[in-house]
Amino acid sequence: MKLMVVGGGGREHTIIKMLKKNESVEKIYALPGNGGMANDCELVDIKATDLDKIVEFAVNSKIDYAVVAPDDPLVLGLVNRLNDVGIPCFGPTKEAAIIEGSKAFSKELMKKYGIPTAKYEVFTDVESASKYIDKIGAPIVVKADGLALGKGVIIAQTVEEAKLAVKDMIEGGKFGKSGDSVVIEEFLEGPEISVLAFCDGETVKPMVSSMDHKRALDNDQGLNTGGMGTIAPNPFYTKEREKECMEKIFLPTVRAMKKEGREFKGCLYFGLMATKDGVKVIEYNCRFGDPETQVVLPLLKSDLLTIMQATTFGTLKDTEVEFSDGACACVVMASKGYPESYQKGFEITVDDDFDGELFVAGAKLENGKLLTNGGRVLGVVSTGKSLDSAIKSAYENVTKVHFDNAYYRKDIGKRALSQKV
Ligand code: AMP
Ligand code: GLY
Repeated sequence: MKLMVVGGGGREHTIIKMLKKNESVEKIYALPGNGGMANDCELVDIKATDLDKIVEFAVNSKIDYAVVAPDDPLVLGLVNRLNDVGIPCFGPTKEAAIIEGSKAFSKELMKKYGIPTAKYEVFTDVESASKYIDKIGAPIVVKADGLALGKGVIIAQTVEEAKLAVKDMIEGGKFGKSGDSVVIEEFLEGPEISVLAFCDGETVKPMVSSMDHKRALDNDQGLNTGGMGTIAPNPFYTKEREKECMEKIFLPTVRAMKKEGREFKGCLYFGLMATKDGVKVIEYNCRFGDPETQVVLPLLKSDLLTIMQATTFGTLKDTEVEFSDGACACVVMASKGYPESYQKGFEITVDDDFDGELFVAGAKLENGKLLTNGGRVLGVVSTGKSLDSAIKSAYENVTKVHFDNAYYRKDIGKRALSQKV
């Protein structure tokens, strides 16, 4: 089979390495991929949002199956376009991807179907938003409706800060069209849990749980980033919470989407918070998380391609989705200064005794050398029998990867290890 994976980060590198394990796979193209995955696939210089070129490439190259990993092409409707030319895909149609593409949509969906989430209102004008902020008080959360590279969420500690955030979004055009309408919601507290789930529109099979570390600096300080590291499984995801999530969140969400005529196929990402009043949905993503994928897929014992195809063809119910009992940790090595300004172009070298996995996100090949080319450069991933040993091993392996201006958090997994449920 000839496969095509759309996207170019550490998540896509992980997916590609897992897909390669299936013996029927002859070739994998990455669009655009990055230099760090050149040994695992063929790089094709087409941007993930260039839908016309992607479709043309897929037809000309006789692609048998496509995996669309990032949010933008999903929300833009790449799966619809590929299906129109007869190419089966992993990922939701644009009608279903709206569950991530519009926070107003996902909040209305949860309200309509009684799925637990933070209380909220949606606004398109500053004045009514400000009145609502005064009514609720701080801390309070302001979110741009549309996609904003994970930056459209402001946790305001004061009423003034919240009002300013609303003004910046609606009048100041801070997130472009994504901020034309804003969701204002109650501030929730509790440990966060990410659960990715395979869905075929009807059946939902959750993967092992994980925990992201979104802030740039240790002890959850600094700016929000795409994610500085992850661990799996998440110890806050107890058996009781797992049952609660299945009954009150996962099944109701998939059924709700079907009822709305927006059948969800692919990977549905549940961003959850375990509050004192039960588990609540913080956000949905219509795709694999990055860097959650880097710790979840290495624990998958079943064949990824088989499962992906089962989500496309509606046979997930009869398909095995098994995870190992072990644990996995990913430490992201970034360029110093990320998520703001940083330098690129430094050579990446790896010692011979490195014994983890490297999932590369921001790198390019030049004259046979791998150079840094992004904020999040790569994820160092180790598995182990316990969370403790996986984390220790990942940090040992980090010392064996070198590039100038490398920065990483020293406390990935610390909260998980000290968890009190
Ligand atoms: P999101 O992009 O929706 O995942 O939000 C980014 C981060 O903001 C989440 O991972 C949470 O840490 C935080 N966050 C979002 N919504 C809330 C909320 N209602 N209460 C507290 N924290 C939140
Ligand atoms: N790691 C969070 C995300 O992929 O949105």
